[in-house]
Amino acid sequence: MSAELDPVLAHIDAELPNALERLKELLRIPSISTDPAFAADCDKAADWLTADLASIGFDSSKRETPGHPMVLGHVEGTGPHLMFYGHYDVQPVDPLDLWDNDPFDPQIEDTPKGQVIRGRGTSDDKGQLMTFVEACRAWKAVHGTLPAKISLFFEGEEESGSPSLVPFMQENAAELTADMALICDTGLFDDETPAVTTRLRGLLGEEITIEGPSLDLHSGMYGGAAMNPIRVLSKIIAALHDDNGRITVPGFYDGVPELTNEQRAQWEDLGFDDKAFLGDVGLNTPAGEAGRSTLEMIWSRPTCEVNGIIGGYTGDGFKTVLPSKASAKISFRLVGDQDPHAIRDSFRKMVTDMLPPDCTATFRGHGASQASTMSTDNPMFEQARLALSDEWPRPAAFIGSGGSIPIAGHFKDILGMDAMLIGFGRDDDAIHSPNEKYALDSFHRGIRSWARILDKLAHG
Ligand code: BES
Ligand code: ZN
Repeated sequence: MSAELDPVLAHIDAELPNALERLKELLRIPSISTDPAFAADCDKAADWLTADLASIGFDSSKRETPGHPMVLGHVEGTGPHLMFYGHYDVQPVDPLDLWDNDPFDPQIEDTPKGQVIRGRGTSDDKGQLMTFVEACRAWKAVHGTLPAKISLFFEGEEESGSPSLVPFMQENAAELTADMALICDTGLFDDETPAVTTRLRGLLGEEITIEGPSLDLHSGMYGGAAMNPIRVLSKIIAALHDDNGRITVPGFYDGVPELTNEQRAQWEDLGFDDKAFLGDVGLNTPAGEAGRSTLEMIWSRPTCEVNGIIGGYTGDGFKTVLPSKASAKISFRLVGDQDPHAIRDSFRKMVTDMLPPDCTATFRGHGASQASTMSTDNPMFEQARLALSDEWPRPAAFIGSGGSIPIAGHFKDILGMDAMLIGFGRDDDAIHSPNEKYALDSFHRGIRSWARILDKLAHG
């Protein structure tokens, strides 16, 4: 720890109320990337961030893309060049009636586990990205400079599959390349144990629509004689898993590695409490592949999940209709070297082969990203682990994560950089869900953690 760090930590503590006010300003902008009705708000969030970075002294700019803009900021300095990534877009808020408050009017709340800030994007990812911005702001306020050459890169399409990201990274490769990427979009291991996430799952999205009769039919007049597309869709969905929870798409497990003994032992040492993990969401029994631990199910095994089904009459009351079509949104989480494009082809063939006479299937793809595994050989991983361990009650752990962050792999495959995923989210933050929150302890210690990490990476 250098002599420069202590006054920065003290400044962070004193500034916390102002940092929260700034975060609230950003949270009030409803930057929902997937819904075109909120495009102007995504733009506004990008403008807000561009101005905020400029106020700290970053050379910042908003960069247009065919979708929502990117925000870049740079500051010169000595030492390693660090590239920080976060996303300013958020998930839709529906079902709105399950929120206790306006999702875009963030409030501080007392809970049995401490104070939280509640609202859409508090944890995923505005609260998290601001931890890094606030650490930079504090360092600059105290010392007039930053301890390293730092760039920031904010995206506004992460929650909708990052369609503009790859071309943007390719076109701006020189500007985006640094010694290490830092990504703040993941979680702690538990409330007291910080983490560096070293693996993320990939994601493949497929929307299928089954069409049968040319119009909706009276189910008494035609029922029995006419094939019902919901019946076809249900059969297809039911066939995607076998009785042991394995996915039946041909070739699906190609490229799925087994854990090494060393990895398995390291995960066992973490003492993950799967009873509590499932118990917190009202469940008891792990539902994945037979013979796998819960941690394997979420960190190292692939999945197939139905995220939504649409078809027939779903309004109040009852209607005896035989619908002309039915559809489903299905996602696959991928691990290891699973090839999303090969799986997409195989899935489409499997569905098509199952179609009865008179039915057709149409497919719409929604993004295809491979899993990423970070090598921890770069000494910066150990430095970050030590810095985190200084801030939190327990030493930091290297962990996996079941979620997907498309850019993590692209830093490596497009720019040849390693990425360190360090975040302060908690399992009960309800990300993507009603009443999302971020613990103030995560926000405060998160800012302090980044100050410590910057200090360690810059000064050793
Ligand atoms: N921050 C999450 C990913 C995440 C979730 C990491 C939980 C660690 C723990 C990210 O914003 C996210 O939700 N990504 C989407 C990706 C997608 C829409 C391409 C996801 O994982 O569903
Ligand atoms: Zn996120």
